[in-house]
Amino acid sequence: MKEKITNIKQDLESKLTDITKLSELMDLKIIYLGKKGLIAELMTALSTLSTEEKREYGSIINQFKAQVTALFEDKISELKGKEEEEKIKKETIDVTMPGVEFQVGGIHPLNKIIDEIEELFISMGYDIASGPEIELDLYNFEKLNLPKGHPARDAQDSFYITDEVLLRTQTSPVQARVMDANQEKGPIRIICPGKVYRRDDDDATHSHQFTQIEGLVIDEGINISHLKGTLEVFAKKMFGEEREIRFRPSFFPFTEPSLEVDVSCFKCGGKGCPLCKNTGWIEILGSGMVHPNVLTNCGYDPEKYTGFAFGMGPERIAMLKYGISDIRQFYTNDMRFLNDFNRIDGGDNNESK
Ligand code: DAH
Repeated sequence: MKEKITNIKQDLESKLTDITKLSELMDLKIIYLGKKGLIAELMTALSTLSTEEKREYGSIINQFKAQVTALFEDKISELKGKEEEEKIKKETIDVTMPGVEFQVGGIHPLNKIIDEIEELFISMGYDIASGPEIELDLYNFEKLNLPKGHPARDAQDSFYITDEVLLRTQTSPVQARVMDANQEKGPIRIICPGKVYRRDDDDATHSHQFTQIEGLVIDEGINISHLKGTLEVFAKKMFGEEREIRFRPSFFPFTEPSLEVDVSCFKCGGKGCPLCKNTGWIEILGSGMVHPNVLTNCGYDPEKYTGFAFGMGPERIAMLKYGISDIRQFYTNDMRFLNDFNRIDGGDNNESK
């Protein structure tokens, strides 16, 4: 028995010196001190001895067990210390390492243009209005002086959901909604940016979904010079102080007279170039004086109130301003395009730069 104990001890001591991993040490501890371990085996072997021997060896084995336990405890704390040290070494931060550059998103070019236009009109006392993209035929067409069967409806190929409900083809229905909702039937000054939908085939200048910004001013004594003054401020802000505008007669069912608005070419200054197709002028939006039928349809007295309205496409404005040749670039989220655009604008939204 004595010999056996000595062997076990020697064996353990040599094994302990070899062990470097805490997990291996814990496995070894089970082999020695576990329920069915070597020490437990020694205890079981006691039963075969005489009473005298039992007493003697019982105390020897107990002492031995205490020794083994102490050996393991020492080794455990030694290895734990080492592992901790290594962990600290590994986790040391090298403050001289270059940082990781995160890609920070910028404001989408279209939203930038819309924000810029909103800001300008807010500074002139306008409110921002909005309306639903799933719209009633009543607002999208009827109240805007486009009754069912009106030929001008064909110019805006529509996505109908039912006979009376469609995806709005223009932001003009917001005009009718705002006039309708105005209980006092008093003055209005709003712009409404939003998405619109048309059954167009997508190409470089068409998209089945695009954005528009609508403007509406209603008050007593509003006339065409107010419209011209307002749009002149807009054109100068968007395309440069030297810009002039001109009106061309046009037709929209909801305005009378209807006017197409051109801005003097900001590329050639009006001399003629490919951008303005040698005319010196670039078309930027549609506008006009609100048709008396629209005022009546929305509860306003056309004898008392007059107003002007305009509608523009922010995509077109951005394409002209930044020389973008394909409208689809606004919707495909190509990072090269978006980053380029941020750079044009000074990259003020890209904080990683
Ligand atoms: N809604 C028209 C369109 O989509 C644009 C427009 C033209 C809006 C003249 C107006 C306006 O308010 O007065 O083609």
